[in-house]
Amino acid sequence: MSKDRKQIGPLNPVEGLLSIKRYDSLLFGRRRQTVDDAEKSSDICEGVPPPYKSRLIFRDNGGCVIIFVRFTGAFNPPVFRDSILTPCPPPVPVPVTLAMTPRIASKVSVNMAHHIHPSLRFPDRKTTPVPEDTPKVQGYDFNQGVDHHALLKSYFNTGFQATNVGLAIQEINNMIDRRQQPMKAVNGFVDEDPSTCPCLRSCTIFLSYTSNLISCGVRESIRYLVEHKMVDVLATTAGGIEEDLIKCLGPVYLGAFTLSGKDLYEKGLNRIGNTLMPEDNYDKFDQWMRPILKQMLLEQNTQGVRWTPSKVIHRLGKEINNPESVCYWAYKNNIPVFSPALTDGAIGDMFYLFSVENPGLIVDIVEDVSKLNNLAVAANSSGVIILGGGVAKHHICNANTWRNGADFAVYVNTALEFDGCDSGARPDEAVSWGKIRTNAKPVKVFADASIIFPLLVAETFAVHANKMTAGKKNK
Ligand SMILES: NC(=O)c1ccc[n+]([C@@H]2O[C@H](COP(=O)([O-])OP(=O)(O)OC[C@H]3O[C@@H](n4cnc5c(N)ncnc54)[C@H](O)[C@@H]3O)[C@@H](O)[C@H]2O)c1
Repeated sequence: MSKDRKQIGPLNPVEGLLSIKRYDSLLFGRRRQTVDDAEKSSDICEGVPPPYKSRLIFRDNGGCVIIFVRFTGAFNPPVFRDSILTPCPPPVPVPVTLAMTPRIASKVSVNMAHHIHPSLRFPDRKTTPVPEDTPKVQGYDFNQGVDHHALLKSYFNTGFQATNVGLAIQEINNMIDRRQQPMKAVNGFVDEDPSTCPCLRSCTIFLSYTSNLISCGVRESIRYLVEHKMVDVLATTAGGIEEDLIKCLGPVYLGAFTLSGKDLYEKGLNRIGNTLMPEDNYDKFDQWMRPILKQMLLEQNTQGVRWTPSKVIHRLGKEINNPESVCYWAYKNNIPVFSPALTDGAIGDMFYLFSVENPGLIVDIVEDVSKLNNLAVAANSSGVIILGGGVAKHHICNANTWRNGADFAVYVNTALEFDGCDSGARPDEAVSWGKIRTNAKPVKVFADASIIFPLLVAETFAVHANKMTAGKKNK
């Protein structure tokens, strides 16, 4: 017997149905070997006591296990009686006719065509010692009571996407630490407001998000960050602007993914995942937008204002004048919101309807891309937090190529890369383009941001809230 084989005792008098798994583990102790493998190394021999029909001999390093077998039907598992004999008698292969399961029958016929096959051997692999500081896998112990902070801390050691959440928390905290480092003081102090230019801040934090994250309650997490000036530059798509504003005009309801599209259409309810946007809200939005667009056209024609998506959003944030709104706080805190595809949503519909009666309003996306890229160029260091994919993700990443890549990066999205889509591209693809620096330690959490982002905020910005907002109230 090989040393690591478990002795299962001399001639075991107990007969019974052994499940394949149990049989395996009896035979091979802690070694993993499938019954298929075992059958391959077996021989069928003479000398079988009734009522058994056959015996299987398993050989290994000079010892063997003999198992007496009788088959009880085509689809029943075989009945075993097991024993260990050492040394093994020489096998005498003989033909046998048994009712066997088709699977075993095919193995037996293969085995009968040969004499003893070499025993299967466990691969002789040794473990190279891991570095002493390698983290060990350990999850949260609820015997400690329910402590959500400790629970989230335990994610780092939990493995899989929980570990990526832990890494994302570290990465965002690194951005925050860098952002809080004082800039070089001239004559003892820096007297300019860092929000006036990224060059006055140690780290510029870019946050991008898909529209649906504003449709859902992630809006409130984003609003918190913008309200407290914890991020510096935003990018989103049209729905990320209009739904923030629409929510100030009428509620969005919880529904279900399974609601019938036909029924909802007839009821004037638009479904976004498992949330419902009443069609009436768009009428309210239209009525609210029309006079603003009229005024914007007037300013363009009389004062030479050249509108860009970010200027339109700034203006809408001012007009909505509601502290529940992300756009409102972005306006208040002078945080630019970029949305190069601003027409791809209800806002585009408003532009379309308005232009029929009032043609001529121009929204320049070129000025905005220059503004965004300049913010990246001016940054002393940069961190990107990218929720979801699409235009918003790429817009921020692309801007960061102009400074040879972001220093810190966290992605949260569900997209995969196998089809080559940019949404699913992992941070390492961005490294290849110079969107993220080669020495950065970017993290991608493969998960729904509606679950993950509030947790990330809870463990990063919210715990640093006092430090991050200190001294900003009077600015
Ligand atoms: N509420 C809305 O979603 C809404 C409303 C109006 C207009 N639109 C328009 O639809 C177009 C497409 O929207 P988009 O570009 O904002 O994003 P999208 O909805 O097309 O999502 C892009 C990718 O981001 C990832 N993603 C999305 N939600 C995620 C989540 N919760 N967690 C993790 N990953 C997630 C997915 O991989 C997805 O393929 C835009 O032009 C937008 O203006 C959307």
